[in-house]
Amino acid sequence: MSFKPLGQLASQLKNTPILFIGGKGGVGKTTTAATLAVRFASQGQGTLLISTDPAHSLGDIFSAKLGHSKTALHKYLDVIELNPDIIIDQHFAQVERTISGYTNPEMMPKIQAHLKLSKSAPGAQEAAMLESICKHLVEAIEAGYEHVIFDTAPTGHTLRLLVLPEMMEAWTDGLLTQQRRQAKLKSAADHLGSATSKSQLANPFDKAGKPDRWQQAVEVLTKRKRLFSQAGSLLHDKAKTAVVLVMTADTLPIEETRRATEQLTSAQLRPAAIVVNQLIRPKQSDDFWQQRATRQQKLLGDIEQIFKSYPLYEIYLQQTDIRGFAALEAMTNPE
Ligand SMILES: Nc1ncnc2c1ncn2[C@@H]1O[C@H](COP(=O)(O)OP(=O)(O)OP(=O)(O)O)[C@@H](O)[C@H]1O
Ligand SMILES: [Mg+2]
Repeated sequence: MSFKPLGQLASQLKNTPILFIGGKGGVGKTTTAATLAVRFASQGQGTLLISTDPAHSLGDIFSAKLGHSKTALHKYLDVIELNPDIIIDQHFAQVERTISGYTNPEMMPKIQAHLKLSKSAPGAQEAAMLESICKHLVEAIEAGYEHVIFDTAPTGHTLRLLVLPEMMEAWTDGLLTQQRRQAKLKSAADHLGSATSKSQLANPFDKAGKPDRWQQAVEVLTKRKRLFSQAGSLLHDKAKTAVVLVMTADTLPIEETRRATEQLTSAQLRPAAIVVNQLIRPKQSDDFWQQRATRQQKLLGDIEQIFKSYPLYEIYLQQTDIRGFAALEAMTNPE
């Protein structure tokens, strides 16, 4: 069989700074992400491990209390569990600040009520999460981490998030064009009106010295566009980003992983490796386990065939859950 041990996956990805670990629910994404992070950290490579799944389990795996801010678990390992509620609150607080900069104060209670409702609008959490992922990605690379590993929510979400930066960039661009067009119209209207002097026109600040509303909106949008564009180019640089898909040797995960590889490939994010988890040894002493082993051997043959153009890695089923730094470190030690 051509499945390699997980330690070799760490070697394959030794020089790849951004890693996304994806796959169906419960297949071992968090275990794989944490194992790689521990391996890099033990080698002295500065690593940031980020969970984007609202149902966090990094805290359980490290038996540590983690949160939305960075926790240092080792000299070379920091961990963050992104909290969608905090992200969305911060996102809307920023929107509110921008609006209050140019709105009649009497209007604010109505606007606040509207913003509160918008927090639970479909897609709002996803958009805020995507912006936060992009921000962490760009900042972590700038801060000099050798690896940023994202432990993601089940497949669909990962795929959607990874192709979104371009969409968000294009969308932000559209808004910017619109803002510029409106700013031009406004400036033309001001110019026609006798109340505006020439010097005021040249100055994008209003009488109170505050940047005017268009200027402010354009600044916010330009900043977001830059962020999405930076994140997008990091994500599509094969030397910088690798997607690793995790699966188990079962019929449904094989199908889902096949679809995921196709979708990712068409989004220019072809997976760099596939990990097959929960393997059992081919020879078992017990009848029940022998039958399972025989069936798994057949499925492993199918996996080798279907995914023959991908590097394949194996993780054996352990007797107990894998918990703590030392246990994770042992996962990549030669047997
Ligand atoms: N090889 C293994 N041997 C024994 N237990 C394992 C193995 N891989 C994973 N587990 C256990 O299975 C459970 C699910 O694994 P894990 O949390 O890594 O999956 P996941 O894909 O991240 O799940 P989710 O989709 O819920 O985030 C955990 O309790 C984990 O400890
Ligand atoms: Mg998980």
